[in-house]
Amino acid sequence: MESYKFLLIEKSGPVVRITINRPEKLNALNREVIRELNQALGEAEDDTSVRALVVTGAGEKAFVAGADISEFAHFNPEEARQLAAEGQERLFNFIENFPKPVIAAVNGYALGGGLELALACHIRLGSTTAQVGLPEVSLGVIPGYGGTQRLARVAGLGIAYELITTASRINAERALAVGIFNHVYPPDQLLEEAHKLAEKIAANSPVAIRAALSAIRAGYRALAAGFDAEIEAFARCFASEDFKEGTSAFLEKRKPKFPGR
Ligand code: COA
Repeated sequence: MESYKFLLIEKSGPVVRITINRPEKLNALNREVIRELNQALGEAEDDTSVRALVVTGAGEKAFVAGADISEFAHFNPEEARQLAAEGQERLFNFIENFPKPVIAAVNGYALGGGLELALACHIRLGSTTAQVGLPEVSLGVIPGYGGTQRLARVAGLGIAYELITTASRINAERALAVGIFNHVYPPDQLLEEAHKLAEKIAANSPVAIRAALSAIRAGYRALAAGFDAEIEAFARCFASEDFKEGTSAFLEKRKPKFPGR
């Protein structure tokens, strides 16, 4: 197997665990992390002995605290459009279309792109310490990795409107109640439970599972237009003064004052 700068890959029987390993930046997703995830997933897809995957974050604090704000703070709308489209294709849609079940083990903050990553996975387990949310509008931008589409699908329109417009973080108990998490476990049991679930899946027919995943997904193909609309709306935000203020305020560790333009 390849060795990666930002990922740890562990194989145990039919289960591969991918740990995003950039804890000093709370596992924030930059282009390189996304590229490595795409490569590691591709390897797991080709390896016929792999029957299920677990994705998690290194450290006790975060699953993934979002897309890397420092990477895109200076982007123009065209660069933003490219970032969102490329990320969706290489990682988020890739996982959603993956022929083997992918379980997110959400061990802490799953914010912005981190929650979007968990939402692209087929099953989400949370630790009791997890906090999830889509805080993009507090930065003058919107979710650009499928969050506007998948949160509405997983938790319902009302929850999506509320979480996205308030930029609120919710705890694990609330995430379980609204259907974002399938189950919640104490932090020291989360990975063990994720592996148990993966092994239960691995005992079943891979051919039938592939067929089931594709049938479940087929019900949502009509949403393709929503994903494209999200990319366009995300890119438009990058031309606004609000975006410049929101991202500068984050990087300068202060509260933003949005001009509303
Ligand atoms: N992009 C880039 N860097 C990030 C990041 C992100 N999404 N999230 C965290 N980091 C970095 C911080 O800048 C900090 O780096 P530094 O030590 O070089 O200053 C480091 O990770 C640790 O984060 P810090 O903010 O000091 O931890 P905290 O415990 O005080 O706060 C959070 C944790 C998750 C509440 C806070 O990091 C946060 O709000 N992150 C951004 C979340 C977000 O808006 N995500 C959506 C992006 S579209």
